[in-house]
Amino acid sequence: MTSPSLALLAPALDRVAADIDRQFASLLPVPDDARARLFEAMRHAAIGGGKRMRPLLVCAACEIYNVDREAALRVATAIECIHVYSLVHDDLPCMDDDDMRRGRPTVHVAYDEATAVLAGDSLHALAFDLLADEATHADPFVRIELVRELARASGPAGMAGGQAMDLAAEDQAFDLPTVTRLQQLKTGALIGFCLEAGAIMGHVPPEGRTHLRGYARDIGLAFQITDDLLDVEGDEAAVGKPLHKDAAAGKATFVSLLGVERARQQASMLVDQAIAHLASFGVEADLLRAVARYIVERDR
Ligand code: IPE
Ligand code: IPE
Ligand code: MG
Ligand code: MG
Ligand code: MG
Repeated sequence: MTSPSLALLAPALDRVAADIDRQFASLLPVPDDARARLFEAMRHAAIGGGKRMRPLLVCAACEIYNVDREAALRVATAIECIHVYSLVHDDLPCMDDDDMRRGRPTVHVAYDEATAVLAGDSLHALAFDLLADEATHADPFVRIELVRELARASGPAGMAGGQAMDLAAEDQAFDLPTVTRLQQLKTGALIGFCLEAGAIMGHVPPEGRTHLRGYARDIGLAFQITDDLLDVEGDEAAVGKPLHKDAAAGKATFVSLLGVERARQQASMLVDQAIAHLASFGVEADLLRAVARYIVERDR
């Protein structure tokens, strides 16, 4: 990555990571009753790990529209709740059956399966609790739009639908358009929410969101192509999760369909295209430009 991008990105990632850890720590005090194990499992999943790329995207999009950072952080925490819940459930034995995540044992390994299901359920609920609260935005129309967009991005027309297609990809031969659709739902929808949320918080009408939506679509796809590339050729210690899982499951991915080289070219082309969508913005979108580059250059 060019050094101006890195100089912008590295401190922004560190700052948002510290902010998100602080948010989860204060939202999830462990109660002195029989729910302690559930809260501990939620903390294990949510605190101290991950790239926090979705929270950074929310904050970067909110910055463009001068949204207050504390309010942006609440939305950033909400999307990270949904993301973490999706990972906890994705790792379960009934799904990908993984025992490492973010360099640590997965929740069902560190605790047990039932606790992992409930920790996921609870993080899912916490996301909407955060968005619906007045502290997120004074305007109830803004809050309801955030709730509806996050619900759509998480449900059967978004992440959960993509996960269902991903399971089907183990025993059906999907072609490139179908894999593209799968990835757009599985990964793209939640990433799309991050940018949309900035526009919603900034009172930008839907017709003013075209460029950010184009950017989100392209980085979302590039992000999942890179995840699939890391699964094939990443370093397990850096990535922090078991690799070579997709081929072992016989899953159709961009990499299995295009091969490593063409998948890498495709991801890099998508990043150029994503940055081109930001042409009408000035320096206020530099962080989004840096995130786009990071998405394909990352090693974890
Ligand atoms: C992993 O997401 C799951 C996908 C959607 C590809 P991340 O790569 O953002 O995982 P963390 O949050 O950094 O652990
Ligand atoms: C999971 O995709 C994406 C979601 C949880 C929505 P993967 O199964 O490829 O993610 P990793 O590789 O386990 O992080
Ligand atoms: Mg999976
Ligand atoms: Mg997985
Ligand atoms: Mg993967």
